[in-house]
Formats: sequence, C-alpha cells, structure tokens
Amino acid sequence: MARITAGVATSHVPLLGVAADQGKAGDEYFAPIFAGYEWSREWIARNLPDVIVLVYNDHASAFDMKIIPTFAIGCGESYAPADEGWGPREVPDVEGHPDLAWHIAQSLILDEFDMTIINEMDVDHGLTVPLTMMFGAPDKWPCKVIPLAVNVVTYPPPSGNRCWALGEAIARAVDSFAEDLDVQIWGTGGMSHQLQGPRAGLINREWDNMFLDKLCGTSDDLRHIPHIEYLRETGSEGIEMVMWLIMRGALGRETRALHRHYHVPCSNTAIGHLVLEPVDGTVPPSPRIEGNSPAAQAMIE
Ligand code: DHB
Ligand code: FE
Repeated sequence: MARITAGVATSHVPLLGVAADQGKAGDEYFAPIFAGYEWSREWIARNLPDVIVLVYNDHASAFDMKIIPTFAIGCGESYAPADEGWGPREVPDVEGHPDLAWHIAQSLILDEFDMTIINEMDVDHGLTVPLTMMFGAPDKWPCKVIPLAVNVVTYPPPSGNRCWALGEAIARAVDSFAEDLDVQIWGTGGMSHQLQGPRAGLINREWDNMFLDKLCGTSDDLRHIPHIEYLRETGSEGIEMVMWLIMRGALGRETRALHRHYHVPCSNTAIGHLVLEPVDGTVPPSPRIEGNSPAAQAMIE
C-alpha cells in the first residue's frame, strides 16, 4: 500500500533558482536562506520518497488567461523546465508517475473534486525552485514527481477550506493505491509577499509565524481564513499559502514539525520552510456514493 510519510512546505522565490544556478548560494545575502535547508537536504537523503505529490502554482508559463484550471494534476511521463523569459533553467526534466497520478485523479474525481488532467506541460519556478532547495543540483532528480497545480494567480483562487479538504482526498487516494510506495506531499509558495503596487515589499512576520505555528499539531484554524485576510495581512501574493493547506490536510489529524526555517528578506518575499510528519494521519471518510469506488471502476475496466 502507498502511504504519505511526510510533508514539506517551502517558498519558491525564483531568485533562489538563479542564485543556485549561478553558484551564489554562499554569498552573504543568500547564505542564511540556503543554510535553513541544510537540515532538510540531509533528512531527505535519509528519507527519500518514491514519489512527491508537489502542490505548486504556475505563473503564466503553462497556463495563461486562455485556460485557468483551479486544480490540475499532471498525469504525464515527464515535464521540462519552462522558459520564463530567460530560457529554461538548466535543471533536469521532472519524471512523473503516471500510474499513481491517474489513480489519484480517478480517486479525487470520484470524491467529487473536478480535477483538470494534464498530460503535457512545462513546469516553472513554482515547481523547480522547491526541488532545487531540497535536492541541490543533481544530474537527475532523485524521485518521481506528480505536479498538482493550483490557481492562485487569477481571482478567484480556491478557498483554504477547499484546499485542506483536497489534501484529505489526496491522502485517501494514496492510501488506496496497491503498490508499496513512500509518498511525500509538498506545499509550496508564500509566505507574505506583494510584488507590485503601493504595498510592494509588504512582509508580515507575525502573521507568517502564526501560520507556521498552526500547521503543527491538531489545529485546523487555518482552513477558515478568508481570502481577504491573506490579501490584507500578507500582500497580494500571500494567497499562495493556501497551497500549504493541501499539504497539511493530507497529513491528517495531527502533525509534528521536524524542522522549521523563516527568513526575511528574499527578493520581496518572506521565505518559510517546514518539514512535517504525520503523528495521527487520520482523515475523514470519502463522501463518494456507493458504486463510484475505484474498485468498482476497476471491474468496469
Ligand atoms: C517572487 C516571489 C514569488 O512567489 C514569485 O512567484 C515570483 C517572484 C519574488 O519575491 O521575487
Ligand atoms: Fe510565486
């Protein structure tokens, strides 16, 4: 049986990809940022998953105003780094896990989450920077990755509550996959940041740390934060943090923090990073109606 063994949360500031690619991670400005990931790199080398469900957002690279999926899951074989205007980053292609991805897609849709299924797309800094922060610069990423893209760029993004519930549904999907796989779930983006307008540069350390605190333990307060509070307290791009709630929902009733890092500034952004393990991974049962189970689907096939 596949199981979710840990959750990782991290910001995805593109400047960190540039710093890593140009050998500047040790520079005075970047050193304290990268130092906060050293523990995690050692930890993940010892706890390497087979697959990461990587919750991230695309920044008008694969999707634009022509198509805006609220939740999309990558069921493809592989994904190339996107050209974000300066040519694609020289990082490896991301290898997918189509069998698990299609299983998750089926389970989520039968659980009443109407996912968009993506078989071909390029992935931007939202996905590649977290991989760089956790794995450095290998010739090949050391595990498979299922991209799960969330619209947090164009209003209206999904609610935090819906994101948390999606996480719970992902946990049920992974649990019902027959193959013995170690699966991690990552939530990326954030923390407080506003990149444009009169409030550009807004950072809210207190609010960010409240958010980090409440991802640990049994609290589910975060699922009830309305969009307007993210906007007011954390700036126009702070809404990226709803993606962390998908990760948190997938870890179940109770979590424990193994590692925590927070640093200001990085570009215009407060960066945060957590490694969480489930203490009690219980999630609510599926709302699906009888007969719509993956097992029933398998009989039809
Ligand atoms: C920055 C942060 C982001 O989340 C992003 O997608 C782009 C830029 C920044 O702080 O520079
Ligand atoms: Fe972003």
